[in-house]
Amino acid sequence: MEVKSKLLSGLLSGSLLLLGSPAISFGDQHSIEHGRYITLLAGCNDCHTAGYGMNNGNIPESEWLKGDPIGWRGPWGTTYPINLRKLVSGLSKEAWMTLARNSKARPPMPVYTLKAMKEEDLSEMYDYIRSLGDSGEAMPAALPPEKEPTTPYIHFVPVTAKAK
Ligand code: HEC
Repeated sequence: MEVKSKLLSGLLSGSLLLLGSPAISFGDQHSIEHGRYITLLAGCNDCHTAGYGMNNGNIPESEWLKGDPIGWRGPWGTTYPINLRKLVSGLSKEAWMTLARNSKARPPMPVYTLKAMKEEDLSEMYDYIRSLGDSGEAMPAALPPEKEPTTPYIHFVPVTAKAK
């Protein structure tokens, strides 16, 4: 009896150890924290968090990365920073990596930043965004250049002051 229970607890602690090993754990505290740091430094909130830039970043973290319904209009049409929390909650980590590597997102999305990120940083960013949970609405679909947006938008074209 005692031998049996010893065997059982041995097996249990063995499998717990296995679960806790960094190689197979999913989204541990360290990777979530580092993912948060990378997300902040890469400036993803600047567009994907409504009001972030305009308020010097004073937006509660519970509101981060839910997208912005204000469009960005330029020669590419009108695009909306998508709800990253919604996106990520429906994607496996592999699918996220593939999307990041092959994204054809239009301006002003800095696709070049995503493509330049190290595998590990992208993976931790995924863990962080996922840890925020799926929340908020999907943002409006992008519009082609000739379509007039019905939402507010930022006109993202250079303006030259007229000479007096
Ligand atoms: C200057 C504004 C801006 C910044 C900064 C920004 N994004 Fe975006 N992002 C957008 C817009 C706008 C879209 C939608 C583009 C479209 O509809 O083609 C988008 C789309 C995306 C998509 C969807 C890509 C696809 O191919 O479907 C992902 C993923 C994404 N952003 C992640 C990020 C991450 C991660 C960061 C930080 C490194 C970031 N974005 C920073 C504006 C921005």
